[in-house]
Amino acid sequence: MKRLVIILAIAVLTAASPVRNPKIQYGPWICNVSETGFNVLWKSAEKTFAWVEIAPDDGSAFEACERTRYYQTVNGCRISGQYHSIPIKGLEPGKTYRYRIYGKVIEDDSSAYGTDYGPEKVMKFKGEAKITTLDSGAKECRFLMLNDIHGKDENFEALTKGINLGDMDFMVMNGDMMSYITEADTMLRHVFTAVPEVTSSIPTIYCRGNHETRGRDAYKFGYFCPTPSGMPYFTFRQGPVAFVVLDAGEDKPDSGVAYSGTADYDTFRQEELEWLKQAVEDPEFAQAPYKVAVIHVPALRYPDSWYPQIWINENFVPVLNEAGIDVMLSGHHHKHIYVKPGECGNEFPIIVNSNVECLEFEADSEHLSIATYDMEGRMTHSY
Ligand SMILES: [Fe+2]
Repeated sequence: MKRLVIILAIAVLTAASPVRNPKIQYGPWICNVSETGFNVLWKSAEKTFAWVEIAPDDGSAFEACERTRYYQTVNGCRISGQYHSIPIKGLEPGKTYRYRIYGKVIEDDSSAYGTDYGPEKVMKFKGEAKITTLDSGAKECRFLMLNDIHGKDENFEALTKGINLGDMDFMVMNGDMMSYITEADTMLRHVFTAVPEVTSSIPTIYCRGNHETRGRDAYKFGYFCPTPSGMPYFTFRQGPVAFVVLDAGEDKPDSGVAYSGTADYDTFRQEELEWLKQAVEDPEFAQAPYKVAVIHVPALRYPDSWYPQIWINENFVPVLNEAGIDVMLSGHHHKHIYVKPGECGNEFPIIVNSNVECLEFEADSEHLSIATYDMEGRMTHSY
């Protein structure tokens, strides 16, 4: 009888605690790509201990040998959680790598001397899971740019439909991809999971817009979009093109009532300006055949321009002119605008992409071309 009770108790307990396999809730996506690495980011459905394994794209089976494991560590401690950002390091420039995410759900981590886990599994997701590192020696640079999607998944899907991922070095998200980050998961769902096969298979270069500054969780933006500088402004190089990604901050004066005292973008932009003056002097940037500035709010100056736009026009543009910028790529206005050199103190053209078009950029040693396409894939502008 006693034995029967024990067997029944075990059966009830087993039925009550199903196997908890690790699952990805949002992502993965790739940020902070460089010549030697990138970060793999995602959100797990439950608290999970996870790692990423990397294999060269050489046709071998992933299981052909033990692959290098990369963990998220803090001061030597491998950490668990739901929000993962795993840096992959020590790679070679211009080389394609496959990645796999592994994890095990934390069943009980209440003891300081041993954690109980669920089964160890590959965490599945949509996409080819192949990433190519940057290479300053590459012959060309190609990318796709989107902006001002404001959380409209159907627009995101339409504008990335049919793109050949193998042709694109990365995707630039030029701000206002959603309207506010009141909940961080809103950003992860609409920006990094709307078109998972794209965001899991090409690196994202994220230029923060004035809407990514809004909402309770907006300060977490940097965690979800790590950069080489650790700031939302940074430089990088791909083939003949050097990029400077800038952050214009909010679009109204810091004292605006809508910010309820939370905005300090004057200080932020001033520090960014000091950084910019140094960044454009770096030989990797200064000696590049082409130089591109990416900034969500274009550095326009018209009689009806708002305060931050005037500020960046007065402060960033002289530095960018001096640095020999070839073109500035922006968004924000929800319409296509071409600004000729000289129109607003700018010695370079400014191309403002609309919210319903994507922009394709291509450059090699001979030419630089930019074209925009609407949601049906028809070319709308070309330069
Ligand atoms: Fe905007």
